[in-house]
Amino acid sequence: MKFYLVIIAFVLMSCSQTKDANIKHDVEEKYIDSILAQMSIDDKIGQTNLRGTSSRAKTLSEALKEDVRQGKVGALLNVMNVEFVDELQKIAVEESPHKIPLIFGRDVIHGFKTIFPIPLGLAASWDENVARSSSRVAAIESSSVGIRWTFAPMLDIARDSRWGRIAESPGEDPYLASVLGKAYVEGFQGDSLNNPTSIAACAKHFIGYGAAIGGRDYNTTLIPEPLLRNVYLPPFEAALDVGAATVMTAFNEVNGIPATGNQFLLKDILRDELKFDGFVVSDWDSTIEMIAHGYARDEKHAGELAANAGMDMEMTSTAYQNNLKELIAEGKVTEQQLDEFVKNILRIKIRLGLFDEPYRDKTNEANFYSKAHLDLAKEAAIKSTVLLKNKDVLPLSKNTKVALIGPLADAPLDQMGTWTFDGDKTHTVTPLDAFKSANINHVYKPGLTHSRDLSKTQFKKALTTAKQCDVVVFVAGEEAILSGEAHSRAHINLPGAQEVLIKELSKTGKPIVLVIMAGRPITITNIINDVDAVLMTWHPGTMGGEALQEIVFGLREPEGRLPISWPKTAGQLPYFYNHKNTGRPANKEDYVAMYDIPVGAWQSSLGNDSHYLDIGYKPHFPFGYGLSYTEFRYDAIKISKDTINFNEDIIINATLSNIGKRDGKEIVQLYTQDVVGSITRPVKELKGFQHVSLKAGETKEVTFKISSEQLKFSNHKAVYAAEEGHFNVWVGPNSSSGLKDAFYLKK
Ligand code: BGC
Repeated sequence: MKFYLVIIAFVLMSCSQTKDANIKHDVEEKYIDSILAQMSIDDKIGQTNLRGTSSRAKTLSEALKEDVRQGKVGALLNVMNVEFVDELQKIAVEESPHKIPLIFGRDVIHGFKTIFPIPLGLAASWDENVARSSSRVAAIESSSVGIRWTFAPMLDIARDSRWGRIAESPGEDPYLASVLGKAYVEGFQGDSLNNPTSIAACAKHFIGYGAAIGGRDYNTTLIPEPLLRNVYLPPFEAALDVGAATVMTAFNEVNGIPATGNQFLLKDILRDELKFDGFVVSDWDSTIEMIAHGYARDEKHAGELAANAGMDMEMTSTAYQNNLKELIAEGKVTEQQLDEFVKNILRIKIRLGLFDEPYRDKTNEANFYSKAHLDLAKEAAIKSTVLLKNKDVLPLSKNTKVALIGPLADAPLDQMGTWTFDGDKTHTVTPLDAFKSANINHVYKPGLTHSRDLSKTQFKKALTTAKQCDVVVFVAGEEAILSGEAHSRAHINLPGAQEVLIKELSKTGKPIVLVIMAGRPITITNIINDVDAVLMTWHPGTMGGEALQEIVFGLREPEGRLPISWPKTAGQLPYFYNHKNTGRPANKEDYVAMYDIPVGAWQSSLGNDSHYLDIGYKPHFPFGYGLSYTEFRYDAIKISKDTINFNEDIIINATLSNIGKRDGKEIVQLYTQDVVGSITRPVKELKGFQHVSLKAGETKEVTFKISSEQLKFSNHKAVYAAEEGHFNVWVGPNSSSGLKDAFYLKK
């Protein structure tokens, strides 16, 4: 197999750099063709088979070994025993018909052993370096056990916090998700896919999974094409731009056609428009689930639909394995189509370097939980933590006596969050661990044993402790099992008796710092006035406790900003900042609150606007929101010109001053609004952001440059263009405030 490398090296040595990529591509394709030419239909179908196994398996099944030997398996998921990985790979490359190596895949989502904050938390960092370093660490650790393919990043825009998988999402904004998606892929895939520490990324789920109606997992989605293209697609485009090797289909149907059998999505968009040349994998059984969807009659029909849509590799179900040969004989699928699937798969196996070195690199040091990895995880947790309220309580001074209360204050498993199959909870540093090792003067009385605990038996101890201390740090939230796949909730407040305990504690008169560890925004409208500070840490991962301790005591700032609007109540969902205006936009002047309506009022006497009578029209905290330990002031927004031509850059300046007493960091956000469009446009769209550090008292000029390219959108005719007209611009600290200016974009 080294032969392949030798040819490439020889050819490349003799050519100029500009031609390198094309020549490499040709060599790659010729090599693929030469393998394909020798393969039977059965061998080809074997490559399309992604076999699922149990990561808890204690023995390697003879049947599986035999299937690998016969070339019936192209890739495996969840083989987590290194000896099994080595043995199966040896069988594949020494005994299978064409000696084609296997790819071993795994859901390495936000860390492998060293667990980083959940992806929604990482998104709160608004920091591509955090995304990149977390996925690099995950790649280094997981590749050491033979994993060369992760089912991440999840790039599903999510606008409904009831949806359990919002935890795994990049949040509600396509621009932020694109910045992060790109960085995740770069981290997983490293400098080159064939580096032994690189793992192939899988941009998932293509597409629209986050639009599940009502936030119920797997639910139907209805996504008009402009919405698909302007909101759901951009993060995938960004991931493919930097070479994401694979794409996973989604469980959901989109406008009546399940994603796994959807030609418009997989062929027209993914292959023809986006020129994707890696392979498409179905989601777990999503091929045969097309039967339950009511789209396929039976397994064979499901295979036919998936094949004709262009799905290359089938995860766990066996519609291809059992039917593809017959479908080809019947002319319902062509052998050329199957050839394309195999080519796409082999291309990625080649790029991963598996034909040259199929075995895991035993010199590749995993450094599980190494200091460097833990430091990055801690940094990520600090950068992900969002301060939502602070009534002069944080940071605490070093000698404050703390009552450490709450069910998540020492919950090592839950702190890791969803999708952490390989993280070892014994390595988790909980807030309690961190308080102990930093010698914080504290008393720990959880009050509740887990987040759903309804019992009040431990309340008394917690209340007595609170009274004896200066301040309560209440670590609340939801257990990891309450978010993630299939774990949607209709109510998204603190479960169990947490709210009751918080209300009891507030009666002690002691200041309360509410820390939330959860997989989604948690509605806190009922308790916001009972607490003095709120810190959202998401499920912060292995180093969450240490990060929290440093933030609470002011060694570090909470640096995160919300990657999602924080609702007042689940009844407000879906809610997202970049909504349309409607014909009757909500506004302060017309708003009448429910309890202000006179009894017997005449029906049309109320302001007829788009709002709720009982909770208004705003979220509890807007997208982009997050306080800091200091205070910032924005001044003097300035746009380079009032009228800007299509080929010109638009320069937007503003000054930012740190008017507080501490040094601090702000994430300065740039939003635009295309006032009138050929289709209606969102009230605001994030177009850029910058992390700015300022010393106390310091002022800096912040400059954004955007081009008309960034003002393009896809209209009802799928025309992707910027349109002449008026634009509003805001520079500010979040999506609902900031300095405003305007310009005219001229053709
Ligand atoms: C999930 C995917 C995941 C796959 C493999 C499915 O249930 O939807 O995101 O990668 O399982 O574990």
